[in-house]
Amino acid sequence: MAAKPFHLGWFLGNSYGVHGWKMPWGGTDAQDWAKPDLCIDLARACERASFDFLLLEDSVFVPDQYGGSRDFYLERALRAPKNDPLPLVPLLTQATQRLGVVPTISTSFYPPYLLARLIATLDLMSHGRVGCNFVTSTASAAARNFGLDTHIEHDLRYEMAEEFVEVVTRLWDSWEPDAIVMDRERGMFVDPAKVREIDFKGRFYASTGPLNTARPPQGRPVLVQAGTSPQGQKFAARHMDAVLCAASSLSDMKAFGVSLRAKVAEAGRDPDDCKIFYVCNPTIAESREEAEERVARRAAGRKAAPEMALAQMASLTDIDFAQYDIDAPIGELTTNGQQGTLKRFMNQGNTLREIAQNYRFSYEDLIGTPDVVAAQMEEVMEELGGDGFVFQGNLNRRYVAEITDGLAPALQRRGLVRKRYEHEHFRDNLFAF
Ligand SMILES: Cc1cc2nc3c(=O)[nH]c(=O)nc-3n(C[C@H](O)[C@H](O)[C@H](O)COP(=O)(O)O)c2cc1C
Repeated sequence: MAAKPFHLGWFLGNSYGVHGWKMPWGGTDAQDWAKPDLCIDLARACERASFDFLLLEDSVFVPDQYGGSRDFYLERALRAPKNDPLPLVPLLTQATQRLGVVPTISTSFYPPYLLARLIATLDLMSHGRVGCNFVTSTASAAARNFGLDTHIEHDLRYEMAEEFVEVVTRLWDSWEPDAIVMDRERGMFVDPAKVREIDFKGRFYASTGPLNTARPPQGRPVLVQAGTSPQGQKFAARHMDAVLCAASSLSDMKAFGVSLRAKVAEAGRDPDDCKIFYVCNPTIAESREEAEERVARRAAGRKAAPEMALAQMASLTDIDFAQYDIDAPIGELTTNGQQGTLKRFMNQGNTLREIAQNYRFSYEDLIGTPDVVAAQMEEVMEELGGDGFVFQGNLNRRYVAEITDGLAPALQRRGLVRKRYEHEHFRDNLFAF
């Protein structure tokens, strides 16, 4: 492999509208959205290409932010309907042998004991292949589903998340690695001396412990998050093994990497202990011309329907962009929702129309044949010094194949990514280089 190889993952947006059900390569049957088949195929393809992980996005509300109505979202299947990703995890780990699987959970609404047990169970069942994407949940509509009139304040949510992770990891540690002895002669399955209470009493949570299932095989299933505000970065710096950065320009990606690595060092950790994954959405085709045609078609689609980007952004930032004149200069806005995302969005232009047309959720300047895109990725990684990419985009089998059977082999031929897994556990593969 190259002197500094990088890692690959997939970020799976969890809704049928996001995957373009109306597009030529979308689904055929109305029932398909709920079936696990496409995700199982995706997991197998990611493993064939030796990816580190497949991350399953989630949220817990039907969006209603754009125009103050759910109609826009439901009609287009944008972010609803959406199945809970947790039951998908065992199906994906059963269908694969080495791929890491990372479901998303909300630290604001999940009880830490249940989460610690759930992730430990999945890690035990998959022989050490599970992670967890910790999100604080950003929508007031989500808060209302859990009995809150208004959502918890942004920075306070992160303070809660820090304590949440502390309880969870302590519960995982409440069983020593060799607590299960299965000693037939002594009639002892678990050695009680190796299972301890945690007696945690914090500001937000309390738990006596111990966990009522064994220690997860990884000890600490892989901890992931994606918040980019200063508080989000601080949370990542203190606790996370991997962070996702969604930015559309090299300069923003680079600035994020520099900032996060500094914060990890400030937190007393080695900056290399928190892997940075840049989210990207490449356009891969058999020729440069064909790839550019596709990019032009996508740009035309954005121009024709700016409300799609505005509605997506409304659901992420909790701001109703339909209330503003789309062609008037838009001033400064603040949110209790996704602050980093709002900042990036507002930097894309002066009016909402400009912003919607220019907006990219992730890095899209990877365009061409598999070989050309592999070379572009090599350059980007050299420039950023980061740890890897996660792919994002419409989930259809053609797009998946372009990446896992076209691009990934091209990256492997250049020695930029792994050709095969060296370790059994997700964590060990992630930190192998
Ligand atoms: C690539 C990416 C993936 C994310 N996945 C989820 C998710 O699955 N569920 C969720 O509620 N929030 C998700 N988020 C939102 C973040 O977890 C975080 O709440 C958001 O970026 C706002 O954080 P900030 O205010 O610190 O910037 C994601 C963000 C990014 C950039």
